[in-house]
Amino acid sequence: MEEFQTVASLDLGSAMTKVVIGRLLGEGEIEIIGMGSYPSTGIKNGTIINIETTSKGIIEAVSDAELMAGQEIDSVIVNVTGKTLKSQNEKGIIAITNKNREVTEADIIRVVEAAQSIHIPADMELLHVLSREFKVDDQTNIRDPIGMTGVRLETEVHIVTAGTTMLNNIERCLQLANLYQIDRVLSCLASSEAVLTVGEKDLGTLVIDIGAGICDLAIYVEGGIGYTSTIPLGSNHITSDISIGLKTTIEIAETLKKRYGHTQIETIDPTSKIDIPAISGRPSRSIFHQELVEIIEPRTREIFEHIESELMKSGFKQSLSGGVVLTGGGSYLAGIDVLAEEVLGLSVSKAKPAGLSGLSDKVSSPEFSTAVGLIKYASKLHMLDERNARIGSDREGWTTKVKRWMQDNL
Ligand SMILES: Nc1ncnc2c1ncn2[C@@H]1O[C@H](COP(=O)(O)OP(=O)(O)OP(=O)(O)O)[C@@H](O)[C@H]1O
Ligand SMILES: [Mg+2]
Repeated sequence: MEEFQTVASLDLGSAMTKVVIGRLLGEGEIEIIGMGSYPSTGIKNGTIINIETTSKGIIEAVSDAELMAGQEIDSVIVNVTGKTLKSQNEKGIIAITNKNREVTEADIIRVVEAAQSIHIPADMELLHVLSREFKVDDQTNIRDPIGMTGVRLETEVHIVTAGTTMLNNIERCLQLANLYQIDRVLSCLASSEAVLTVGEKDLGTLVIDIGAGICDLAIYVEGGIGYTSTIPLGSNHITSDISIGLKTTIEIAETLKKRYGHTQIETIDPTSKIDIPAISGRPSRSIFHQELVEIIEPRTREIFEHIESELMKSGFKQSLSGGVVLTGGGSYLAGIDVLAEEVLGLSVSKAKPAGLSGLSDKVSSPEFSTAVGLIKYASKLHMLDERNARIGSDREGWTTKVKRWMQDNL
């Protein structure tokens, strides 16, 4: 019987730590064989604030996933997000100098190196170098220029850096959970990998992963990444507003949000009422359903107003023919897509991971987009390794930065 490689992913979410185990069946096909999740008490707004409780959450989630998969894991591909992330677009230009002026792999390496010769501060590390497009002389929008002829090769890359301390904290949590880190991937790239088609990336699409503590944004234009960002607001901020507004506990507020939450007040029957359970010192009572929506709507609108200003900052608002795709647990909220359309002025849809086999129903929900996308990312790396073995490509001679670029883009 053929031996398939098993890969595990870890999504360190602000609400839940999630683990997914998948088998790579070849040609990008993935069979889900296990999953586990555990409440994250040591992660706030995407950032680890307690190493011990975070590693405990990892151990618990891994153990559930291992039980389901019937096998142990010793390594994971992990997500990276939070406020220390920085991203920028850079350009590189080189002359194509070989005798028949044909672009080779060596030229790609040179132009990518030229584009990323930026200064990285001592407390930051390079996370991704994502290629947007190549240009050979006056021909633009080329994804793979190898074999084309010309005199000048240009590229534009999207560079993502992350705080060293934050990356070290992730590594420390993995060590305490006895796990080796295969790779680390920006959350929004992973989520996009899970929910976007190649066609949507080509058309130009904004992906918003609405989590508990943050929103991860990725803008794809002409097949490549044009902009990435995070916003320190998520669905927990809505819960917290409900808790304050209705003078109830976070737990009750969370249940009310999930059961009755909505963003479109006009769709709610003005006479309909909902019950708020008793808490110590306060009897149970009922309120109009519309009162709950009156609390939820402004905060959700505020989140999309922040996203709108990121869109304006990106300069790509006019390039999003594919519209906006919402995912992450926060996208469950009823009417959130309608409100997003109103604020952003773009067509909006909700998406969850698809196209998987095995126990796929266990992870076919929007809160698993990052974890599933990480497995898809790992599958791409696996295919790259197989390709390199096949063509005998020597990766040892390359600088770390270029290796990283090859991993992200081929
Ligand atoms: N039915 C629902 N209606 C509204 N919100 C929901 C629903 N189900 C889950 N959520 C919200 O989704 C959030 C959790 O989503 P998710 O698991 O994607 O977050 P996370 O990845 O842990 O956090 P982050 O990405 O911010 O670090 C919680 O705030 C939760 O309240
Ligand atoms: Mg998340």
